[in-house]
Amino acid sequence: MKFSTFAYAWPLTATVLHCLAAGGKSIQNQPMLQLSSDPTMHFDLLSPFSLAIAGGADIGPILGVAKDIEAGDIESFTQQFYKLANETKAQAEDPDNSYDAINVRDTWFSASTYYRKAANYIIGNWDDPRLPQTWAEQTAAFDKGLAGMTIPGERVRIPAAKGNFTVEAVWYAASENKQVKAPTLIVGNGFDAAQEDSFHVYCVPALARGWNCITYEGPGQPTVRRNQSIGFIPEWELVLTPVVDYLLQEKSDIVDVNKLALLGNSMGGYLAARAAAFEPRLSALLLIDGMWDFSLLFFGGLPKSVVAIFNAGNYTDFDREVISLRKSENVTTEIAWGINQGLWAFKTRSPSDMLKQAQKYRVKEFISTIDIPVFVAEGEFDGWLEGQAQLVTDAIGDKATLHKFTGVAGYHCHVSAGQELARVMFAWLKKTLG
Ligand SMILES: *[C@@H]1O[C@H](CO)[C@@H](O)[C@H](O)[C@H]1NC(C)=O
Ligand SMILES: *[C@@H]1O[C@H](CO)[C@@H](O)[C@H](O)[C@H]1NC(C)=O
Ligand SMILES: *[C@@H]1O[C@H](CO)[C@@H](O)[C@H](O)[C@H]1NC(C)=O
Ligand SMILES: *[C@@H]1O[C@H](CO)[C@@H](O)[C@H](O)[C@H]1NC(C)=O
Ligand SMILES: *[C@@H]1O[C@H](CO)[C@@H](O)[C@H](O)[C@H]1NC(C)=O
Repeated sequence: MKFSTFAYAWPLTATVLHCLAAGGKSIQNQPMLQLSSDPTMHFDLLSPFSLAIAGGADIGPILGVAKDIEAGDIESFTQQFYKLANETKAQAEDPDNSYDAINVRDTWFSASTYYRKAANYIIGNWDDPRLPQTWAEQTAAFDKGLAGMTIPGERVRIPAAKGNFTVEAVWYAASENKQVKAPTLIVGNGFDAAQEDSFHVYCVPALARGWNCITYEGPGQPTVRRNQSIGFIPEWELVLTPVVDYLLQEKSDIVDVNKLALLGNSMGGYLAARAAAFEPRLSALLLIDGMWDFSLLFFGGLPKSVVAIFNAGNYTDFDREVISLRKSENVTTEIAWGINQGLWAFKTRSPSDMLKQAQKYRVKEFISTIDIPVFVAEGEFDGWLEGQAQLVTDAIGDKATLHKFTGVAGYHCHVSAGQELARVMFAWLKKTLG
């Protein structure tokens, strides 16, 4: 969903705002049919299509939700997906469904996706009982899907030696053949999407091409934030290095150590770049998309008058303004969601503290030290990150390849164009790593 990266929701609206500001372009210039007149909800309805092509959702039910939700009404979005999730769970539990193993896998994976969508907007109230409830449901459903795979995916918990947390990961082997070492894709999300989303978007296409895959989450990300109550940390090598250790120690018989690619999705574009700058055992890096400075997404979304209060150092006033903005009936879904998600993921009640933390997520200081091949993506309609991929590419230099996804593939993280995304990525990996 969401931004999964950060941005699931932000970028789209930002794009619209940016285009309007740039003069002339409007929602009519969007490259596809809009699923909601609320651009953030359009994005959040579009993102599950990327999962649908990889066994994580069905199309009709999402279009049904799109018809029934009220644009801009967060509660109706939550209710409609929660209802769909419950109905899909009931289908998964129907004894007739279990005659076919693929039925079981697909139905549970879809139910899991719909529970995650139901959880999309409820982070505004940390005490909402649906916050843990929908997550327990998505986890349980996903685990039943994992168990139904031909080679079942395995949940692994990896203690971080240099941090006060445990990395939550899911490992997917390309083959049961222990004689063959396969290339391995390590996938990390960003601001809001879950590793369960990444399985469909990245690991399904990886497994189909003979790659192993592992997804992981650290502080601030959905399961770690909920289960360990820890907000984001910028030193992402503390999260990634234990994952690489795990692969080399536990999976050395089937992991080709010369073909270890790290992918960062959305705000993961910062996180993965940071980790890669400190982790010498990687062979390639993919930034989907290139991120130069995460805090710019917040500064770009808030009214200029409010940003000026922050810049003046009036943090008490700033906090009051932002909190009242969030409660205002006029606030866009994008801004309300972005503030809510930010406070929750950085684990703070103070918007100024959140922004001060967000300002640490900048690649400038370390990006030029990365000396493995880097694939840097960017999206034509991702206004929030506009220009950031180019800065990242220039700073890395010769090792970087910039790829701009255009038209219907040009939304943030290329949602709903998963086939094109996978095609381009894996062609680059093959060309680069052989
Ligand atoms: C979904 O099921 C849960 C558990 O039975 C229930 O608490 C919740 O109200 C249901 N949600 C909807 C929208 O029907
Ligand atoms: C680690 O986390 C525990 C539980 O949240 C906390 O009590 C402890 O102070 C933390 N230690 C460090 C070094 O952060
Ligand atoms: C998270 O915590 C819940 C409740 O304690 C538990 O049921 C669940 O298994 C945990 N999830 C993971 C992935 O550890
Ligand atoms: C900071 O806040 C105080 C009190 O609200 C106000 O008087 C002052 O003008 C503000 N300063 C700036 C630079 O905005
Ligand atoms: C919402 O916008 C309308 C029209 O601009 C304005 O009259 C109203 O005061 C605003 N409401 C709030 C709570 O800001």
